[in-house]
Amino acid sequence: MDGSIGRPVVRRDAAAKATGVARYAADFPHADTAYAAIATSPIARGRMTRIDTAAAEAVPGVRLVLTHRSLNATLNGETFIMKGGHMQSSFMPLSSDQVHYAGQIVSLIVADTQEAAEEAARKVEIDYQAEHASAAIDDPDRIETRLADKSIDKGDAEAAFDAAPVKIDATYLTPAQHHNPIELYATSAVWRDDTLLVNVPSQWVVGTQAGLATIFGIPMADIKVESPFVGGGFGGKATILPHTVLVAMAARRLGRPVKLVVPREAMFTVGSFRPATRSRVRLAAERDGTLTAVLHDEAGQTAAIDHIAFAGTAITARMYASPNIRMRETTIATDVNTPGFQRAPAEAPGFFGFESAVDELAVALAMDPIELRIRNEPARDPVSDLPWSSRSLVQCYRRGAELFGWDRRTPGVGSMTAADGTLIGWGCATATYPSAMAPSSARVRLNADGTCIVSCAAHDLGTGAYTVLGQVAADVLHVSDELVRVHLGDTTLPSGSMAGGSVTTGSSGSAVHMAATAVRDRLFQAVSGSGDTAGFTIADGHVVGPDGSRHRIAQVLGNSPGGFIEETANWKPTGMDDRSMRRGLAGGMAFAGPVTATHVSHSFGAQFAEVRIDPLLRTVKVSRMVGVFACGRIINPRTAHSNLAGGMIWGASFALLEETRVDRPRARFANTDLAGYHVSTNADIGDVIVETLDEHDTVVNAIGAKAVGEVSIVGMPAAIANAIYHATGIRVRKTPILVEDLL
Ligand code: MOS
Repeated sequence: MDGSIGRPVVRRDAAAKATGVARYAADFPHADTAYAAIATSPIARGRMTRIDTAAAEAVPGVRLVLTHRSLNATLNGETFIMKGGHMQSSFMPLSSDQVHYAGQIVSLIVADTQEAAEEAARKVEIDYQAEHASAAIDDPDRIETRLADKSIDKGDAEAAFDAAPVKIDATYLTPAQHHNPIELYATSAVWRDDTLLVNVPSQWVVGTQAGLATIFGIPMADIKVESPFVGGGFGGKATILPHTVLVAMAARRLGRPVKLVVPREAMFTVGSFRPATRSRVRLAAERDGTLTAVLHDEAGQTAAIDHIAFAGTAITARMYASPNIRMRETTIATDVNTPGFQRAPAEAPGFFGFESAVDELAVALAMDPIELRIRNEPARDPVSDLPWSSRSLVQCYRRGAELFGWDRRTPGVGSMTAADGTLIGWGCATATYPSAMAPSSARVRLNADGTCIVSCAAHDLGTGAYTVLGQVAADVLHVSDELVRVHLGDTTLPSGSMAGGSVTTGSSGSAVHMAATAVRDRLFQAVSGSGDTAGFTIADGHVVGPDGSRHRIAQVLGNSPGGFIEETANWKPTGMDDRSMRRGLAGGMAFAGPVTATHVSHSFGAQFAEVRIDPLLRTVKVSRMVGVFACGRIINPRTAHSNLAGGMIWGASFALLEETRVDRPRARFANTDLAGYHVSTNADIGDVIVETLDEHDTVVNAIGAKAVGEVSIVGMPAAIANAIYHATGIRVRKTPILVEDLL
């Protein structure tokens, strides 16, 4: 509809979700489905020495008991996402007798009923020969590997640090964390002749399709991956998880549809997780707060079977103007399932330490932490020296300070204690997230009855893509939002990219914009009778010519073949070559930016927290959070603000609750359920106030939309840690910050 972009349109998928009509991966019924269960390894490292499946096979209704002996799974050349493939890990369970991590799938059992499959899974007998293993990055025998290509050096940071009058040198820890989407991992696989249908919750249906095509040696066109609704993804559903392959293999072998729903406990080991990190941050400044050296050494957990690194320092290096910058990255190999993407994978852990250190520096300088940040705001990207496509961080701080009431803050530790003794602390921190873009296709059809259909194999993880992508088409074609139908999450639709790296709105939105504009141009051409459409506009269901003549759109379309106009567009990010675009549209990884030949593009935010701490019990309540963000053009403030608020709440969860604990002797994750793995609930969270600035970025893409998905978790953990320091004088340099840290 006229000016649909920027309106707080209510979620178009809301009714389907509220009424249960929305189908998630496990909800698709397939006749004659057989049900799968998994058995997982109790040991973390070693090999299987004896397997006996007789008792499992004897359970009535059991059809198939797969182990590495009976399956010998192979990826057929398909590989780990970080090696250019689509898999969550290089290692494929049921491919050998080796055990690489606790919770590894060692058997897949298929039966006529779920109950029979689960009973049989308990009856698979395996003997193991265990070897020493470790799942924690601080175990002394762990090997640390430097990633030379991730080093950043500008000036002489060590010398500048040594010479500086004011400095901070501190080390910060973040633990392993797990995605815990409400929707469990699940896969249904159905073979018909040599074609495969897969229902799987997915952040990348086309990538999943491409990977499965390689594994099974069939054309992509013979595989359909369907994921219209995703009950939370957070990065954990961006790659092909090994069990999806196993289920498809079992279905083919059995000649029957097979469905597996992964139990919550196994979610911690059959997928990925956020790896633990250790950050040493050194900051040096003149007495007036001018930064003279920024040094950040980050070590991240990886798996022994894979190498994955999320370089937080690539992002922290871009935050402040400093003549001297030195960044180092290492990985620490542990005997765990392969870590992977989890909301702001590099940024969230890296910024906890980095933005805590900035606060420590402000305390050392006796300077307001916002003033310190503004003083060191870089005019250009400090690493590349390129201009920003837009950077409104200072404006975010000014508006955030106003909303939060920062000018009422008294800087002294414990100085804001309430009359009843409750300790009150106020803290802030910066958030950022790169705005990368990915190639995307979209199809837009305008019908004579006034409806419009948008189709794209993009994904709605519960964040609003159905609504937002419809608004882009509505805006171009002046159709009311209720008349736009959007189809997503299905590989039979025009290609969409991975819903990762916060790219969907900017990328698929640009493709929809392009296709809708092509439809509009054809509509104008149909009226003008020529290619000259200058001066044509749409108003009130009419095409209005430059001479003021009015032509009913329904009539124009009625005269078109089929009664509609339809266009498909392939959108390519600025600066991307055609080959990369084709690779991306065919399900390969192809991202452009955030650093292009001419610009660096990031979203930014200023985040504020108020904590209230019981003086005796030391329990922390986050009573208030304020976040002001600049993410380019906001297509829909309602869905964007919900997404941003969700990230802030997760940030509070990160700061105070989330940790996957390691059972060291057994080298396994210990708290593998929602009773033991704590996430924020309503009772943990007070007021959450979100604003977005009206930021115009003319560089990033045609619709001016930067990243919204991940940025809002990034600054919150440090903002809360900084607030806790302000309340108590205790600087906690690890998360989660627990009662015992504040005694
Ligand atoms: Mo996000 S962690 O890039 O799905």
